Amino acid sequence: MKERIALVKKLAGLTDEESRAIADTGGLPPDVADRMIENVIGGITMPMGVAVNFRVNGKDYLVPMALEEPSVVAAASNAAKMARVKGGFAVTNTGPLMIGQIQVVNVPNPEEAKKSVLAKKDEIMKKANDQDPLLVSLGGGAKELNVKVLSTLKGPMVVAELVVNTGDAMGANAVNTMAEAVAPMVEELTGGKVFLRIISNLADRRLVRASATFEKHAIGGDEVVDGIVYAYAFADADPYRCATHNKGIMNGVVAVGIACGQDIRALEAGAHSYASRTGRYKPLTTWEKDNNGDLVGSLEMPMAVGLVGGASRTHPAAKAAIKILGVTKAIELAEVMAAVGLAQNFGALRALATEGIQRGHMRLHSRNVAVAAGASGKYIDLVAQRMVGERKVRMDRAKEILNELKEEE
Ligand code: MEV
Repeated sequence: MKERIALVKKLAGLTDEESRAIADTGGLPPDVADRMIENVIGGITMPMGVAVNFRVNGKDYLVPMALEEPSVVAAASNAAKMARVKGGFAVTNTGPLMIGQIQVVNVPNPEEAKKSVLAKKDEIMKKANDQDPLLVSLGGGAKELNVKVLSTLKGPMVVAELVVNTGDAMGANAVNTMAEAVAPMVEELTGGKVFLRIISNLADRRLVRASATFEKHAIGGDEVVDGIVYAYAFADADPYRCATHNKGIMNGVVAVGIACGQDIRALEAGAHSYASRTGRYKPLTTWEKDNNGDLVGSLEMPMAVGLVGGASRTHPAAKAAIKILGVTKAIELAEVMAAVGLAQNFGALRALATEGIQRGHMRLHSRNVAVAAGASGKYIDLVAQRMVGERKVRMDRAKEILNELKEEE
């Protein structure tokens, strides 16, 4: 690692300070970092905050969240506080089922091939389960085999799909190993040629459903309820708004995912492909008014997370974050993440439907602007407070204030 960073420093003309900033791996020991990915030169740390007030299925949680964006942790905590009035979040899940796909091309008779593969379902699933006796002993393993015939740009294709209960693992390794192991059998049965053997990130058999009722007075009254329902209708009707609506949900989901060492690319892929499953891109949440005039929100999305394997087991900070959260099963982690996603969406919509997000956001962002303008130590808060007071949270003003403060001394 030292040699690599020295070389990169020279090639990129980094200063000592810049190369030190990268070489410092924070809470991740350098030897662990060096084995996690390739060509490692260091690390990048981001702040981890804890969201408070979360009650999910009757249990209280302190929720670690790692991200660079101000206001997200505050908004989640505030939303969770409002949800508590009516008991917090209720979350259910469909179980940890992931799909592994085996693609077969050049199949002489696709419909016959489908029948032949299905006729050997038990043998194929046995072969898959032989790959992971531990998972099977814990109640997981391949549970179904489905076959579909696709009409594609390159003609018909047969795709066999293993449905695997991956237990407490995110499951990519288990599923990919199984898909590769059964591929020769599928190839022989179909008379075609297998190319891809890989997990699907459209994890629509691994869903979480969170819901919460927000008492209207606790959230600001009828107008706020209506504003949030209108915001939802906007997202439902328009993909331009919907992308941002769902981004707000992922602010929460991804932040907990990063803190807990999850594969957040898989979470994003699952979320957005699920949001598009009808052929139109839709919100992952729904918002409506109930008979009492209270606001009822629900979220349904794939949540492929794991507590065995991956960074959740190797990154010391992720392990500690999981301990803070106090979850021992992957589905419990998934359920809390769904509650955070719903809370985050509520917080964003409530702010957007009322005073807008910029005032609160800029107040919290002002410290970042002060740092970017060169403030350090006590000057960070002094510059930030003055900018907020003047309602001018801008780099040029931060620099001016910083100079003024230094001259005053
Ligand atoms: C910003 O990170 C997230 C929001 O834009 C989400 C939304 O518009 O719903 C505030």
